[in-house]
Amino acid sequence: MSHRIAVIAGDGIGTEVIPEGLRALKAVAERFDIALEFQTFDFGSCDYYLEHGKMLPDDWFEQLKDFDALFYGAVGWPEKVPDHISLWGSLLQFRRRFDQYINLRPCKLMPGIKGPLAGRKPGDIDFYVVRENTEGEYSSVGGKMFEGTEREVVIQDTIMTRTGVDRVLKYAFELAATRPRKKLTSATKSNGISITMPYWDERVEAMAAGYPEIAVDKFHIDILTANFVLHPDWFDVVVGSNLFGDILSDLGPACTGTIGIAPSANINPEGNFPSLFEPVHGSAPDIAGKGIANPIGQIWSGAMMLEHLGHQEAADTLVKAIEAVLESGDAQLLTPDIGGKGTTQSLGRAIAEHITA
Ligand code: NAI
Ligand code: MG
Repeated sequence: MSHRIAVIAGDGIGTEVIPEGLRALKAVAERFDIALEFQTFDFGSCDYYLEHGKMLPDDWFEQLKDFDALFYGAVGWPEKVPDHISLWGSLLQFRRRFDQYINLRPCKLMPGIKGPLAGRKPGDIDFYVVRENTEGEYSSVGGKMFEGTEREVVIQDTIMTRTGVDRVLKYAFELAATRPRKKLTSATKSNGISITMPYWDERVEAMAAGYPEIAVDKFHIDILTANFVLHPDWFDVVVGSNLFGDILSDLGPACTGTIGIAPSANINPEGNFPSLFEPVHGSAPDIAGKGIANPIGQIWSGAMMLEHLGHQEAADTLVKAIEAVLESGDAQLLTPDIGGKGTTQSLGRAIAEHITA
């Protein structure tokens, strides 16, 4: 059985790192005899918008819904199209309509990468942030009244449904159960946010009862952010609401070095819809067209995609190839953002060759 993958490169360096992501995926698919079928789409980019007046065709949902996964580069080119139009018109549509309620980001200190935290070596930082991706603080419930007067008032409500909270917690517990340390940390703020956050804590406790093998702890979000920096070795799987998860999923990868290598996944765990795999970085207009973008974020996203599709060994092999090439420290291969003199292609080729070798 073949996996059907929709490929959307998007804008800027998205178009430069996607080919390297595909190169690595093809190499690992060949080695493990996995059938991957790629189909490329030109929508979801600012050039498509300039031509058609919209980011996506009207039937995008129909066109994409039966794929097994979406492999996305990056979207956005503020000089051509305002960011709120390009992002809301593409990526955020996919996340919502495909009910990708898990946003998953690994935070792993890789060999050869100089992280911002002193004295940490590979192995010290290796955890996941699991973010709720559909409700919580990012709701459209609220409004504005008496605009422009002394009585001006704005309200935006947090929405937590039992379904929404339980399903992200279940995913996080299941993920923790697959990891050697079997540890789950919940981000809360039940001392200040006195209705929704105690509810979140309550659901964590209820879920924990079904996973006696998992060690559970919780921190208020303020001290939790501090502990990401002070004690990143404490964490294994960290789960948070939409807002807290948003903050932690930027902070976590930042604690492990460059944005050029960080991957992410937007997942619909039931597989009712395709999940989406993309690097954390954007289209990087400042370096686009120079051929120096780091392709590792895109390639690592490909590894997350393989894992999601059930090919754990292939995914591990891909990550190990990334680690091996980083560890080599070969300046001719590495891109400038990680201290090398190489190009997007030299780094991408080296990783693919390591897989084939
Ligand atoms: P950015 O992530 O594109 O760039 C931030 C900085 O990191 C830049 O200096 C860039 O050169 C560098 N950088 C990023 N990726 C790199 C890589 N692979 N290798 C080496 N250096 C890299 O963020 P920025 O500049 O805020 O946004 C640019 C555009 O991208 C905007 O339109 C924004 O909306 C969009 N964006 C899209 C995202 C997505 O598609 N998921 C995520 C973030 C931003
Ligand atoms: Mg963010």
